[in-house]
Amino acid sequence: MSEIPVYPPSPDFVSKAHVQGLEGYRALYARAKEHPEEFWGELAERELFWFEKWSHVFEWNPPYAKWFVGGKTNVSYNCLDRHLTTARKNKAAIIWEGEAGEQRTLTYQELHRLVCRFASVLEHRGLKAGDRAIIYMGMVPEVAVAMLACARLGITHSVVFGGFSAEALRTRVQDLEAQVVITCDGAWRRGKEVRLKAAVDEALGADCPSVRDVIVLQRTGSDVPMQAGRDWWWHALDQDARENTPAVPLDGEHPLYVLYTSGTTGKPKGIQHSTGGYLLQVLMTMKWVFDLKEEDTYWCAADVGWVTGHSYIVYGPLAAGATTVIYEGAPDFPQPDRLWRTIDKYQVNILYTSPTAIRAFIKHGDQWPAKHSMASLRLLGSVGEPINPSAWEWYHRVIGKGRCPIVDTWWQTETGAIMIAPMPGAVPLKPGSGTFPMPGVLPEIVDYEGNPVGPNREGFLIIRRPWPSMLRTCWRDDQRYEDNYWSRMPGAYFTGDAARMDEDGYFWILGRVDDVMNVSGHRLSTMELESALVRHPAVAEAAVVGRPHEVTGQAVVAFVTLKKGDWNREELVEELRQWVAKEIGSFAKPEQIRLTDGLPKTRSGKIMRRLLREIVTSHTVVGDVTTLEDINVITSLAAQHDDE
Ligand code: WTA
Repeated sequence: MSEIPVYPPSPDFVSKAHVQGLEGYRALYARAKEHPEEFWGELAERELFWFEKWSHVFEWNPPYAKWFVGGKTNVSYNCLDRHLTTARKNKAAIIWEGEAGEQRTLTYQELHRLVCRFASVLEHRGLKAGDRAIIYMGMVPEVAVAMLACARLGITHSVVFGGFSAEALRTRVQDLEAQVVITCDGAWRRGKEVRLKAAVDEALGADCPSVRDVIVLQRTGSDVPMQAGRDWWWHALDQDARENTPAVPLDGEHPLYVLYTSGTTGKPKGIQHSTGGYLLQVLMTMKWVFDLKEEDTYWCAADVGWVTGHSYIVYGPLAAGATTVIYEGAPDFPQPDRLWRTIDKYQVNILYTSPTAIRAFIKHGDQWPAKHSMASLRLLGSVGEPINPSAWEWYHRVIGKGRCPIVDTWWQTETGAIMIAPMPGAVPLKPGSGTFPMPGVLPEIVDYEGNPVGPNREGFLIIRRPWPSMLRTCWRDDQRYEDNYWSRMPGAYFTGDAARMDEDGYFWILGRVDDVMNVSGHRLSTMELESALVRHPAVAEAAVVGRPHEVTGQAVVAFVTLKKGDWNREELVEELRQWVAKEIGSFAKPEQIRLTDGLPKTRSGKIMRRLLREIVTSHTVVGDVTTLEDINVITSLAAQHDDE
């Protein structure tokens, strides 16, 4: 194995960092491990505002955790109101840039005003704590306004990524039984309009009886039909808005949001997050990992529809009183230097993006970043998938000019906050490693029986102890929560990831061990894709696997057998790709669809995805095939590849 380079933090960075040197990190980690209640209790008291203090920090009835029991707080209050009595009152909370170059800056005072106004609009529509809102919007400041207005009243929100189809939106509306859908007429993406309101109409067309109101923000100005009695323009309702809508004191465990994510079955899981514990850990990791300073301009270039957007575009930065940049459009539009240009324009100090984006920029070529100084950058972050060392080195050298530490952050929708990542003023970096766990996080790498595997061995990544921002359950499905996360390794949280720890205690995340794929940092479930494919009238069976891809990390390959019929196979392949876009969203379209005569199965009828994975990865099958029902299926699939 070639020597892995180590990048210690520069003395200059360390001298200004909140947590300095490995001793600083280790002391914090040890205290959180040995005295968790005192550790989190002190932080909750110092870092958050509470209407009523909790009676005790932590309650654990495995696998159900409660944090800050009996405490009353409000996320919107913590993100807004408490800054208004400080110098942050007129500080930029959000700097927004539209894809076409429009700009808006909202100070904390202004954002507070907009949130109060919109909260009163929701109140006037009869919504109250415990109700649910679906937010299906583009990346406009109002998406944050809508989230914070819901949080202000205790309306549990579920943001649905604007790239999801009407079909995917409908299943989320139904599962959540949302009373209101907040949307836009459309969103801009690569100069084209994504017609969001049209998708809402299609989604609500059938079997969504819970929805009483649809509130539509005008963004693109395109013509949208409005259904009388159900649909309202945001700006029309705003006419009667009130500016001092108080934040409702909510139980620390109140469900702030539900975010649907792909799991191992066909139906997405509604990951339910809390109020107090969630916000505290998101805020603390924001400070620890990004070494956030008052004067920083911080930019997380994710979409707010994913958990990264929730925790590190909206709630984390605003709770910390930071300036967060929100960019509406595609990162390479109109040209591949959009991100670099934007960094110079707003003098961004911290950039947080995904390995897929970085790999796409590498392909575009160094001439694009070379046009811009990017001298303001002092820290870079990576999230969503393993970052390969060569992409890490490029990011470090070409974007960070060798001066900016890179924080590779491992976490999940379920964990709410960053779990494994370096504190940049404390931890020497190794490209491709998330380094060490955050305070309060006790990860371990174990074998099938749950025994620790020891250094440099691969195993399952589990987490031993509950943490404040942990998911509380799956929305109205405790069974699923228990089965998915707490049954595989008794007493521990099962992440679904494989990992390895090196001799220095550094964690290396290797990827999923379950039927979840990671394409461009988006989580996709093989089962969900397969269920979508078999809903097509021509399809008899489908098996989906991921193959390694140099830009997107993984790419979707679908093996499909057809029902009897006279199909035009070429046209059908394209039609099936479009079908998946319609059923889930275009980001889920298979890169390749292979029509085959049969699928490899065990004698009990289970599709052997492992073999298909081997076919798409190595084009040969080396694994054990003795349980295969029909060995010929495999040979013909491998041969089919050779023909292509
Ligand atoms: C993967 C995104 C390696 C992992 C925040 C995890 C990573 C899944 C990293 C969660 C990383 C995320 N290094 N792998 N830094 N970050 N992953 O729920 O497989 O969209 O289980 O949350 O992404 O994806 P999710």
